[in-house]
Amino acid sequence: MKKILMVCLGNICRSPLAQGILESKVNKSKVRIDSAGTAAYHVGNSPDERSIEVAKKYGVHINDQRARKFVIEDFDEFSVIYAMDESNYQNILKLARNKADENKVKMILNEVYPGKNLNVPDPYYGGNQGFENVYKMLDKACEVIADSLS
Ligand code: 4NP
Repeated sequence: MKKILMVCLGNICRSPLAQGILESKVNKSKVRIDSAGTAAYHVGNSPDERSIEVAKKYGVHINDQRARKFVIEDFDEFSVIYAMDESNYQNILKLARNKADENKVKMILNEVYPGKNLNVPDPYYGGNQGFENVYKMLDKACEVIADSLS
């Protein structure tokens, strides 16, 4: 079974959306998707209300997710680890134990814009439009990922 991990900073805004959107596009009996944060600020919390709302608007259910911190064992558990931005990417790479770990880490928007290393902007301190924007970016990326899995 293919296992994919979505990672952002707090695991309450971007990566729960990435998880929910990709889950909505794949056969869940064939792919396992999870998400985590590089920081522990929100461990145990539900996704941000603004992420829940924008997901609901597009028919994606993320309410039951709970935030957790990225752990080194995630390198063993998952086949691909998608970082939402450059800072998450660097923080995950710092924990890599070897080249095989490093090779699992990718910038999610490189699935749509290969080699550009574009960030999914952190929407936490902004308004609802930021969440809408993040949703659209992640929807595009997850469409490409889902196609590559089928
Ligand atoms: P996320 O957004 O990394 O997309 O979950 C954030 C959530 C919380 C904080 C920062 C970013 N925070 O500083 O608490």
